[in-house]
Amino acid sequence: MSILVTGGAGYIGSHTAVELLDTGENIIILDNFSNSSPEVLDKIKQITKKDFKFYKVDLLDENALDKVFEENNIDEVIHFAGLKAVGESVEKPIEYYNNNITGTLNLLKVMKKYNCKKIVFSSSATVYGNPKTLPIKEDFPLSTTNPYGATKLMIEQILQDVNVADKDFRVAILRYFNPIGAHKSGLIGEVPNGIPNNIMPYIVRVAVGKYNELTVFGNDYDTEDGTGVRDYIHVVDLAKGHLSALKKIRENSGVQIYNLGTGRGYSVLELVKTFEKVNNVKVNYKIGDRRPGDIASCFADVNKAKKEMNWVATKGLEEMCKDSWNFILKNK
Ligand code: NAD
Ligand code: UD1
Repeated sequence: MSILVTGGAGYIGSHTAVELLDTGENIIILDNFSNSSPEVLDKIKQITKKDFKFYKVDLLDENALDKVFEENNIDEVIHFAGLKAVGESVEKPIEYYNNNITGTLNLLKVMKKYNCKKIVFSSSATVYGNPKTLPIKEDFPLSTTNPYGATKLMIEQILQDVNVADKDFRVAILRYFNPIGAHKSGLIGEVPNGIPNNIMPYIVRVAVGKYNELTVFGNDYDTEDGTGVRDYIHVVDLAKGHLSALKKIRENSGVQIYNLGTGRGYSVLELVKTFEKVNNVKVNYKIGDRRPGDIASCFADVNKAKKEMNWVATKGLEEMCKDSWNFILKNK
């Protein structure tokens, strides 16, 4: 029996692969390397000293996907593969809907054919749109403002519908808040394509001298210091959340939905200051305009994951900042 990890060469997938291998799970990684590279696979092996099968397959290639299931005994899937840049999704909606939706439908078709009935899916806090109150609970109203977010919402709906049609089909939908940090070894971490959109990859590149300064997107929000507040979560804590979710759906039928965050929000300036302090480096910044589509504050109510999965994030902001820095220093 194996767990198929789609998108397992990516940022969150690679960290989850490490945790799975470390606990003795048998995994198969599938990736098309559209946003990652083959070296990551060697790094995962280096960290864990374990081996696994890998398939360079695009989820859009249904025949190739079928072959992966035909050749292996896959009974669980952790589905990370997808395109994730919000701005790019506005420019290339067809590509995003095709990759994320069609890719997932192909996966579900093949899972059905081979009687594979457990899936953990990477959703995002983006599905909460602009929440009316904080912290955000799983039963808050859902909405999206861009094609990326729409694909997440649609896939959540598709998974719930598949469960309605087949009660043996078990689903965990994990809504991630803001993953940052990297594995302690510095061997795997976040490697964005081109100019990073998300804040931590940008901060580390300013600190290392690649960019002159960070633009803080607005300081006139209704927050303590006026800058945006987010729930940053260490990627290793997030990865561990997938093991808890897997355990949950091994033991329970139905669709389980969980926020994965720390439950605590930090502002952009708090993040920058913490990064500077723990790493003893300077991060130059200037205050710029608000980024269209951004919200003031976003942080999770994490009680459901704690109560039902016994999962909590254990790593604080300082460790996240240290590990992000360690990764960039080792991978300049
Ligand atoms: P990532 O880009 O590092 O990893 C995704 C991986 O999927 C990449 O290795 C990419 O090559 C692969 N992939 C994409 N399309 C594919 C396809 N059609 N066939 C096969 N492989 C394909 O992204 P990540 O940060 O690790 O995110 C993983 C998942 O979590 C994504 O679904 C993303 O939308 C979701 N998510 C990420 C964040 C975040 O901040 N990183 C937040 C919320 C949700
Ligand atoms: C973004 C996405 C969201 C996605 C999430 C995780 C947008 C509008 N939203 O969220 O859909 O789920 O990433 O992938 O892109 N910031 C700066 N300067 C920068 C970059 C960011 O000040 O150069 C600020 C932002 O305004 C925000 C915070 O830093 O307040 C975090 O930004 P980011 O890392 O992009 O994540 P989100 O905006 O939460």
